[in-house]
This record gives sequence, structure tokens and C-alpha cells, in this order.
Amino acid sequence: MLKVGVFGTGHLGKFHLNNWKEIKSAKVVGFYDPDDAIANDVIEKYQIERYPNPESLIATCDIADIIAPTNFHFELCEKAIRQGKHIFVEKPLANTMHEARELVKLVKESKIKLQVGHVERFNPAFLAVASMSLYPMFIEVHRLAQFNPRGTEVSVILDLMIHDIDIILSIVKSEVKNIAASGVAVMTETPDIANVRIEFNNGCVANLTSSRISMKKMRKMRLFQKDAYIGIDFLNKKTEIIKLKTSSEEDNFSFDLDTINGKKTISIIQPQVPEVNAIKLELEKFCESIIDDTIPVVSELDGYRAMDIAHQILQKIKHNTINT
Ligand SMILES: NC(=O)c1ccc[n+]([C@@H]2O[C@H](COP(=O)([O-])OP(=O)(O)OC[C@H]3O[C@@H](n4cnc5c(N)ncnc54)[C@H](O)[C@@H]3O)[C@@H](O)[C@H]2O)c1
Repeated sequence: MLKVGVFGTGHLGKFHLNNWKEIKSAKVVGFYDPDDAIANDVIEKYQIERYPNPESLIATCDIADIIAPTNFHFELCEKAIRQGKHIFVEKPLANTMHEARELVKLVKESKIKLQVGHVERFNPAFLAVASMSLYPMFIEVHRLAQFNPRGTEVSVILDLMIHDIDIILSIVKSEVKNIAASGVAVMTETPDIANVRIEFNNGCVANLTSSRISMKKMRKMRLFQKDAYIGIDFLNKKTEIIKLKTSSEEDNFSFDLDTINGKKTISIIQPQVPEVNAIKLELEKFCESIIDDTIPVVSELDGYRAMDIAHQILQKIKHNTINT
């Protein structure tokens, strides 16, 4: 049984506590949170031990589950790695690129596993197409959220867009060639809304819009590739594929279209979306990677790459703002 220490029991930390209860290969041994009111509430609701400092909890656990604010990720991760403890750390991996680089180096020199909380990789709508051959040449993404002060200590790029950056980097197997970006700090001191165009060496272009000042929520990714359109609705957990019909393939609906090359039959396929809890699944998969000694689904390198692109985007936005 893997012993889990939970660091940070705020909004997301409580979701983790609930999910750890359901995971058979692990058990929470205690938590550390410096906020007395939050900690007392956790003791009452979960009846788990509060540790007086991070060091004593790290000494007791096998897995440090870090859900503290991002500016504490590095120091908590560093302490845990130096004690040889596995780490699940929320996204983004760290606060700065220097910290992220240092963590990648420390993990490489150690024998520990580290997974980053890019939970959308476990979203059932994405899992529904994960086994498909994805080679998009154009990607359109909208991730729109209503304003909530939680998370606004960082820009919308590091708060929301980083989820889509990670998903795109996991799909497009090519290096980034160019980034163009613009963003506006409407409600806070950092960009609250941004539009970004990422060009890859293989010709793929991803156009991402993220906002945390919208009236309506949306989390949609649309992939266009040679033979298909794939729509992934992360919010409503729905996936749709529209493609030229092949005789062998089962579809939900089809219709004919007249084209200059004659009549074509178009298939609409709504793949089975698995009924999974994404947070539970990401924690379970992390435990499996420790037990089976395999690379975690979202490794420290994945976390680093997503941060690297996010920081390049922020540099572009800063440059454009200075020059206007
Ligand atoms: N994967 C996702 O979709 C997702 C969603 C929300 C938040 N997050 C990430 O999770 C982290 C926490 O976000 P949240 O919304 O739960 O924030 P929150 O403010 O609700 O909770 C943070 C908690 O950490 C505690 N804390 C402060 N300093 C600490 C320290 N040094 N050690 C341990 N705990 C400490 C605070 O007292 C608080 O209880 C952030 O890194 C955020 O980016 C990820």
C-alpha cells in the first residue's frame, strides 16, 4: 500500500482527498496545510492527521501529492525528491522556467516518479479518441471560463491555456516553429484573455483562445486532419468524428454530399465516451506507474514542455504590449 501525504488542502486538495479514498493501492497518511481554519475543517471532515511541517510528512509518505499554490511547488518537490519520495504535483509544474529545469534535472538524477496534474489527458472525451490515429494539421481551441479570483495569481496562459498546450504537444509529434500571441489584462494584472497561434515544423497550426472573463463556459478542441474532423468537448464530455465513409466502419449517421469529384458519403461517429472520474484516474495511473516502474502518463518532461511553450507565449504577449 502506497502511503500518500497531501500538501495543500484547499479547493482542489479536497477533490484529491475524496479520490484517494477510492484508490485501493494507496492510503492518505496525513496532510500539511499552513492555514489553521482549512486544516481544522479537513481534520473534522476526513479524520486524518495534520502534520506540523512539510518535512515530517515527507519523511512518513511514499508519495507527496502537492496541491499547494504554484509558487510553493518547487520547494516542496525539491524536498520530496531529496528524500527519494514520488511526487504528484499539480499543474503548472513550477513557477519559473529555472525551477522547472531544476526539477527535471533532480528527477533525472533520482529514482523517483513524478507526474504533473494535466488532468485533461484523463478527460473521458479525450480518452474516447486517444486510440485513434491523430495527425491534425489545424487545431482550433476555445477554453472560456467565468471570472473567479482563485487562480488569478498567474496569467490565463498558466492557469487555463496550459491544459490545451499539454494536450496539443501530446498529439502533434513535431517541434514548435513559431508562436504569435496577443493577450489583454482586463480584470487582473496579468492576461485574462489571450489568442495564440502555434506553428509546428510539420505544418500543423494550432489556434488557441483562452479566457477567464467570459459569461459562458466552453472547453472545446477541434482537430482537422486529412480524412476527418474530430471535435472534443472537454466540458460536456462529448466527442464527435465527421469523416468520409469507409465501407467497414460503423457510424451513428451518414449523408451524401455532391462534390466536384462526385457523390461522397459522410459519416458522423459519436465514439463511446468512457464513464471515468478524471482526477481518480490520473492518481490511479500514477500509482500504477510506481508499482509497474513505468513512465507516468504526464511526466516531468511533459510538464516542462507545456511550461516552456506557455512562457514563450507570455514573452510574446509582453513584447506586443510594450510595443503598443
Ligand atoms: N489541474 C487542474 O485543473 C487544476 C485546477 C485548479 C487548480 N490547480 C492547481 O492546484 C494548485 C492549488 O490550487 P487550488 O485551486 O486548490 O488553490 P487553493 O488556494 O484553493 O488551495 C491551496 C491550499 O494550499 C495551502 N498552502 C499554502 N501554502 C502552502 C504550503 N507551503 N504547503 C502546503 N500547502 C500550502 C493553502 O492554505 C490552501 O489551503 C495550484 O497549483 C493550481 O494551479 C489545478
